Amino acid sequence: MQIPEELKSYFKQKAGSEVSSISYQGSFGILYAECISGESNSTNLEKWRKAGNKITGSCNQLKEIALDIQNAGISAAQALAFAEGAVLGNYKFDKYVKDKTSKANTLKDFNLSGDGSDGLKDLKLLCEAVYKTRDLVNEPVNQLNAEQLSEKFTAMGKESGFSVEVWNKSKIESQKMGGILAVNAGSQQPPTFNIMEYKPAHAKNEKPIVLVGKGVVFDTGGLSLKPTPQSMDQMKCDMAGSAAVAGIMYAVAKSALPLWMIALVPATDNRPGENATCPGDIITMYDGTTVEVLNTDAEGRLVLADALAFAKKYEPELVMDFATLTGAAMRALGAYGSALMGNADEAIKNEIKEAGDKVYERLAELPLWEEYFEDTKGEISDLKNLGKSEGGAQSAAMFLRYFTDYPWLHFDIAGTAFLTGNDAYRPKGGTGVGVRLIFEFLKQRANGQ
Ligand code: BES
Ligand code: MN
Ligand code: ZN
Repeated sequence: MQIPEELKSYFKQKAGSEVSSISYQGSFGILYAECISGESNSTNLEKWRKAGNKITGSCNQLKEIALDIQNAGISAAQALAFAEGAVLGNYKFDKYVKDKTSKANTLKDFNLSGDGSDGLKDLKLLCEAVYKTRDLVNEPVNQLNAEQLSEKFTAMGKESGFSVEVWNKSKIESQKMGGILAVNAGSQQPPTFNIMEYKPAHAKNEKPIVLVGKGVVFDTGGLSLKPTPQSMDQMKCDMAGSAAVAGIMYAVAKSALPLWMIALVPATDNRPGENATCPGDIITMYDGTTVEVLNTDAEGRLVLADALAFAKKYEPELVMDFATLTGAAMRALGAYGSALMGNADEAIKNEIKEAGDKVYERLAELPLWEEYFEDTKGEISDLKNLGKSEGGAQSAAMFLRYFTDYPWLHFDIAGTAFLTGNDAYRPKGGTGVGVRLIFEFLKQRANGQ
């Protein structure tokens, strides 16, 4: 697409170099419609998002965009995708930067008019939720330990209308959440266990939908230290699952979706401090299962297992967990999609995959063959936390499955949660993956489809 240069001069012509507000009608739409024709399918909508991103990228200090859908000659879905790309691509984590003269974060408003423009309200709060999720992921561990993460959840709950209960270390001890405590053992800072809830009077579901997010605020690997500096570099992102579930709760509550939702987040860092769990230690989990910890770097499944076992008490309709769990999932799919596993119905899996295509947070399902479970069965304990390295995403998921007794979906977002370079409207760093995907899925569910 040769759009940027053309657009740049087009904008300058129309609005001069000090662009702060532009209204686009007919000709703008024609320019784009010529470049991106076709029906509003998944591939086409992604092109519109990328086009939207090019606008904010090529126009300095653009503050406002207004677009008339019918005059532009495009569909409402295309206009919304265009808006989405413009807004999401405008994100920059510049909180700690003195010089904030960059192009990012300048777009303050996007207006649509014409049929279908009512979708803009949801889109705006969804983008806000994605921004918040990205902010959490990008925040380094010296600014965001487990307790500080809990404070952020509490603030997000207050702002949007969901409740947040934060358990401290002694409460976690009294509940015997042995997985969380084992991962936290080498840390100087206490863990937290977070319970978020949104239960509107008009909820359509009688049993809650439960989200679980991995909240490892930093993963050094513990005593089984990560083998290279490079493999530790990005590990502030190891709480991206928890950031995604908080972002989903924020979007659901703000848009008052008629769904009863609960989110659980076990939060801690994983460090090799004095009292750290040793390879070979046998620990007892929340549900009484014993686990031989053969590698302290396989910590995600330990903290998640306690939360998944705890989720049973809600008799949930569906549980979805989000975790930067395995390098194996990243190697399998790269940054182009997340790995989906689980035992929920095919119909639910198809719904979630369709939502993934629609918002372009694609999912590839990996099989949960029973043989993967053999890999994680214990010899001197019930389970061990290390399977074979081949099929590592699946044996990790099979470890998690052991702690479930309800319809369950597991999203391994190790490859998609954090980027080392810009990818169109997903700037380098935290992507906010999961938020748009699950909001789309939940919207469909709330509509009874
Ligand atoms: N947090 C990592 C997984 C990860 C890797 C996330 C790359 C994001 C990018 C996880 O805790 C981990 O260390 N997994 C190990 C497990 C292994 C020791 C069984 C892995 O996948 O190498
Ligand atoms: Mn690890
Ligand atoms: Zn980890």
